[in-house]
Amino acid sequence: MRTTLSTLKKMHQSGEKIACLTAYDASFSHWLDQAGVDMILVGDSLGMVVQGHETTLPVTLDEMVYHTQMVQRGNSRAWCIADLPFMSDSNVESALSAAARLMKEGGANMVKLEGGERVLKMVAQLSSLGIPVCGHLGLLPQSVEKRGYKVVGRDRSSAEKLLKDALALQANGAEMLVLECVPSALAQTVTEALEIPVIGIGAGGGTSGQVLVLHDMLGLTVGKTPMFSKNFLEGSTSIQSAITAYVHEVKAGYFPAKKHEITL
Ligand code: KIV
Repeated sequence: MRTTLSTLKKMHQSGEKIACLTAYDASFSHWLDQAGVDMILVGDSLGMVVQGHETTLPVTLDEMVYHTQMVQRGNSRAWCIADLPFMSDSNVESALSAAARLMKEGGANMVKLEGGERVLKMVAQLSSLGIPVCGHLGLLPQSVEKRGYKVVGRDRSSAEKLLKDALALQANGAEMLVLECVPSALAQTVTEALEIPVIGIGAGGGTSGQVLVLHDMLGLTVGKTPMFSKNFLEGSTSIQSAITAYVHEVKAGYFPAKKHEITL
């Protein structure tokens, strides 16, 4: 049976952890789906792990549509989220047309966009047109040139701002939120303050679910792997069993362990 938004909301309400991984092509999305991953994120991280760019900024909308199409050919059950690439959400019109392409041509179930106050207008419009929207707060890879790759929410004012942005995203129609590189205690506070599922990456075990970049959790990332990730291929006999182990560890609450958490 296909995973729907209402399945995910029920999982969140009942405390069942949501397991999400990124994928960028049909083969991997097939094996993620088979392993019981609840959601597949076609992340613009593909700019780094697939295309070899230094950041996600060069990724185009055409490329996101292309990769979402591939992922959806391999996926029969998991909920599919596609990222709005850098600048495609710079105003309401372009966010609407980018989201329409990701859903109509790519077959995505939901679109994700980065930022707080700046994107509220876009979130409200997308949502009013029936497009499920996932927000993304904390470390924002599309703003790396301005803000760097840094933990967000260590000091009181940035923690308060993050919580305010999260509540505003929900109030404007976001149905889900990704929190990236946020101290665990803050991520848990945000999760408890919201009704929508909160999916963490480097945000500790107190969120409704977890997402990792596929190449990080398979030990394929060139260069440094983030400390909050884990190589699930170590100790597994195949890629398929590594993905199954990830799903199991997320559901059982074993991943992330204390050593993967960001503290204050
Ligand atoms: O692009 C991506 O893979 C993401 C995750 C880091 C959440 O947005």
